[in-house]
Amino acid sequence: MRALALVCRKGGVGKSAIATNLAAALSSRDHRVMLCDLDPQAASTVGLGVDYTAASPTLDEVFQGEASLADALVVTRHGVDVAPACPGMARTENALLQEPGRERILLKALVPLVDQYDWVIIDTPPSLATFTLNALVAADFLAIPAIPEFPSVEAVAHTLETIQLVVERELNPELRTLGVIANKHDTRTKTTAEVLRRIEALGVAVFETTIRKAVAVTNAYAFGEPVLSFDPKHPVADEFRSLTEEVLSHA
Ligand SMILES: Nc1ncnc2c1ncn2[C@@H]1O[C@H](COP(=O)(O)OP(=O)(O)O)[C@@H](O)[C@H]1O
Ligand SMILES: [Mg+2]
Repeated sequence: MRALALVCRKGGVGKSAIATNLAAALSSRDHRVMLCDLDPQAASTVGLGVDYTAASPTLDEVFQGEASLADALVVTRHGVDVAPACPGMARTENALLQEPGRERILLKALVPLVDQYDWVIIDTPPSLATFTLNALVAADFLAIPAIPEFPSVEAVAHTLETIQLVVERELNPELRTLGVIANKHDTRTKTTAEVLRRIEALGVAVFETTIRKAVAVTNAYAFGEPVLSFDPKHPVADEFRSLTEEVLSHA
């Protein structure tokens, strides 16, 4: 089992879109894939067609110590097993603030499943609090999505600082940052190039593959499908496939 977390303090950068499409692409390459949705907004849960109101238990019960991760998994027709999130998790995250060892809950929950999955893709909320910390502790690799807007630079910098702390405090000394994924990429704008230049100046690698802005991504989401199955011939689907190749080559 290898675990990859999509992390960025900023919302709307494509963590969930990339998590769902990467998971689907890995599955189509015959990897056994689980997606853990640690964001109470449940975007990647919904994006893979899972109705969290009908799911029980969810990761909420797993984080409360009331269910195992295996019990929470929902099999989807996209070849990805989903550990669903739900809005109630926001309350649970606050309640966990007093719990010692709260940052290792996901890591421990994954242990019984290490031989059953090749990949775990972890989607995280747009914050660097307990759930994201759990992702950083459980992951082998992480990638940071960014979009061509200037606040992305600051968000990447802040995210990198948190990752540094996780490594330095020995919460996960082996954690490897694969790099920044340039999402909603638009080669026609100067802002795109300038934002990427500033991100590279932070000393972080940037994936060679960029993901264009394409309405197909949002449409696929509305149908609870990865764009890879919703519109497999779309150029953006090709980009998600080459992103997956790049992840596999780095990992
Ligand atoms: N490459 C893309 N092209 C067009 N829309 C995108 C793309 N990536 C993400 N989106 C859309 O942008 C919004 C935010 O993306 P999302 O993956 O939910 O971000 P995050 O998880 O970082 O908050 C969603 O509506 C999503 O469908
Ligand atoms: Mg999200």
